[in-house]
Amino acid sequence: MSLRIALVSDLHLTRRPSLFQYNWEIVVDMIREWSPDLVVCAGDIAVDGPRNPDDLIYGKEQLGRLGVDVLSIPGNHDVGDAFLGHDPVEEATMERYRLVFGPDHWVVERGGWILVGLNAQLIGTGLGGEAEQMAALERVIANAAGKPVAVFGHKTLHLGDPEAEIPTGWTLPRPQGDLLRKMMQDGGVRFYASGHFHRYREIDDNGLRLLWAPSPAFVTNHPSFAARGGLSKAGFVCLELDPDGTFTSRFAEDNAMIQFDIQNAITDGSKSRKRWSEKLSINVVRRDQPVAAEAE
Ligand SMILES: [Fe+2]
Ligand SMILES: [Fe+2]
Repeated sequence: MSLRIALVSDLHLTRRPSLFQYNWEIVVDMIREWSPDLVVCAGDIAVDGPRNPDDLIYGKEQLGRLGVDVLSIPGNHDVGDAFLGHDPVEEATMERYRLVFGPDHWVVERGGWILVGLNAQLIGTGLGGEAEQMAALERVIANAAGKPVAVFGHKTLHLGDPEAEIPTGWTLPRPQGDLLRKMMQDGGVRFYASGHFHRYREIDDNGLRLLWAPSPAFVTNHPSFAARGGLSKAGFVCLELDPDGTFTSRFAEDNAMIQFDIQNAITDGSKSRKRWSEKLSINVVRRDQPVAAEAE
């Protein structure tokens, strides 16, 4: 019997009026119909957790509508980020996340698999819990006793070429990301799933499969983002994991979903356009920074 997991990411939810709620309603219907064993949410649950903590509470309420166990990990829009320059990740923002969602990193056993969720926002910060989180993963790998292991974190490791440079904050920072990659490859981890790029992509990295979960909320088709590759489309991922360590993944979408390109909201516009983008919560990436540095 396969373990069926709906992998969702980058929901960017808020109780305020929001364009992103529309596709989320479709995701809720699709997941309820598929009725998986588990939902994993790979971060960016909120539009703006650091500045508007109620977005986290609302995100938790919305995940509760799925009618199935949900495990989540934080993203930059939930707790902030040490590298992207929008809101710094701090003990206080992480504590607010934990109060709403529970532990920000976890290990569970389901369907013969060991699933590990990492707080990617912690990695490279030196904040409390970073070393413990890595030590916990090391222990899991050492004691897996043949059970397949899968790891989840908001940010991926690289864009296909592990040596290539990418602006800090988009992938896990170096050298921590490289150490994590080596630990997972040496330990035979089956896949590492992430969000953050709002793109669906699979990369085979020397036996470690990198899975990018798309966002149902919005896509980003600016040329600097398109260079990241993958499918830029609203949706989520259906995973089926077998106890022998094999698994399948499938991009899940629906024709009713709106393909909203956030790029349309962040190019310079009139004051009234700016007001409407704020009213509709689509100013999620606008921090008056140059486009290339803006956060999804
Ligand atoms: Fe995001
Ligand atoms: Fe993100």
